[in-house]
Amino acid sequence: MILITGGAGFIGSNFIIDWLGAPGQDEALVNVDRLTYAGNLENLAGVEHDSRYRFVRLDICERDRILELLRAQRPRAIVHFAAESHVDRSILGPGEFVRTNIEGTFSLLQAAHGYWGELDAPSRATFRFVHVSTDEVYGSLGPTDAPFREASAYQPNSPYSASKAASDHLVRAWHHTYGFPAITTNCSNNYGPYQFPEKLIPLVIANAIAGKPLPVYGDGTNVRDWLYVGDHCAALRSVLRSGRPGQTYNIGGGVEMANIDVVRAVCRLLDELRPDPAGPHERLVSYVTDRPGHDWRYAIDARKIAGELRWTPAESFASGIARTARWYLEHQSWVERVLSGAYKDWIATNYGGR
Ligand code: NAD
Ligand code: DAU
Repeated sequence: MILITGGAGFIGSNFIIDWLGAPGQDEALVNVDRLTYAGNLENLAGVEHDSRYRFVRLDICERDRILELLRAQRPRAIVHFAAESHVDRSILGPGEFVRTNIEGTFSLLQAAHGYWGELDAPSRATFRFVHVSTDEVYGSLGPTDAPFREASAYQPNSPYSASKAASDHLVRAWHHTYGFPAITTNCSNNYGPYQFPEKLIPLVIANAIAGKPLPVYGDGTNVRDWLYVGDHCAALRSVLRSGRPGQTYNIGGGVEMANIDVVRAVCRLLDELRPDPAGPHERLVSYVTDRPGHDWRYAIDARKIAGELRWTPAESFASGIARTARWYLEHQSWVERVLSGAYKDWIATNYGGR
């Protein structure tokens, strides 16, 4: 079996749903999540009773309890998603980012390293620890700079990216010093189902449907690379299968777009799928004060993972954003429950007595 941290979040829950939904999948999965505001077990209601799935509410900072769990479950791999992930929140309150992203990754590494050391030689040889990180560790690019490569220098600019960079360094050191079989992935902006509506794309979709302003930071020219979450999950499965310990892999969608163009694309789609009698959704665009220290451009050179592991994204931005917009339109009650906080009541009702 494999163990996932942060599986109740956006990417983690997509990973679990895809994993358990794969044809012929007989490998079980344990999901360890502390359930912060970003952890939503409603995402996983469809697999809750699957005999291959188990949820354990636990903070990755609790090293001893994590070690105990590892000894009891005996996973052959760990995929580490758990983190504080929102840049704006890191600017307002960096403490939680240092705690979970740095101290939490440190605790998890210590527990996993201890467990790995107790395995027999064949299990030790095949064990993998996949650390899911971000392209933001590389800093910000100018308009003509080459995209980030695995060898690009680390230049994190926000408390979030600094905390992720620190966690990457810890993972690297555990491989270099102890031979711990860790692999790090650095990927670009994900989008797709179950993303918390604090991030640009789900926020814009939710606000546009509600007829609210669509906040665009600064002049809207900041550029991101956009990766459909299902493609990211496929990339992580290929890293788990064939990635080399000690290596890092950049993962990107090959879709560089200015924020304002992303917002306009979403507006045009919603005009088609759910026309607003008051007029085109683009009328709701509202330029607001920029994010402090806002990185201007991210771009990914994903040739390493394409060449070594034969992974390339399957979705174009047009197909991925259409799937995403349709999902949000069909799951408006999910968005409403997240925004109202009602999804937390569901946790108490379903898990309170367990
Ligand atoms: P998310 O914020 O949606 O989910 C994070 C999950 O981690 C939540 O379920 C939360 O409850 C859990 N968690 C937080 N602190 C914890 C702790 N101390 N112990 C146990 N669980 C804890 O994040 P996401 O967008 O799904 O991102 C997942 C990972 O991918 C993160 O490491 C993030 O840095 C990385 N990443 C995300 C993106 C993106 O675009 N979303 C891009 C690149 C990298
Ligand atoms: O690059 C990978 C990173 O992508 C991940 O590591 C992070 O976890 C993830 O949150 C994301 O970070 P960003 O800061 O790029 O994502 P966000 O959706 O917050 O913002 C995307 C861009 O849109 C960014 O340039 C800021 C801008 N923006 C964001 C919001 C929330 C707006 O213009 N308006 C907004 O309301």
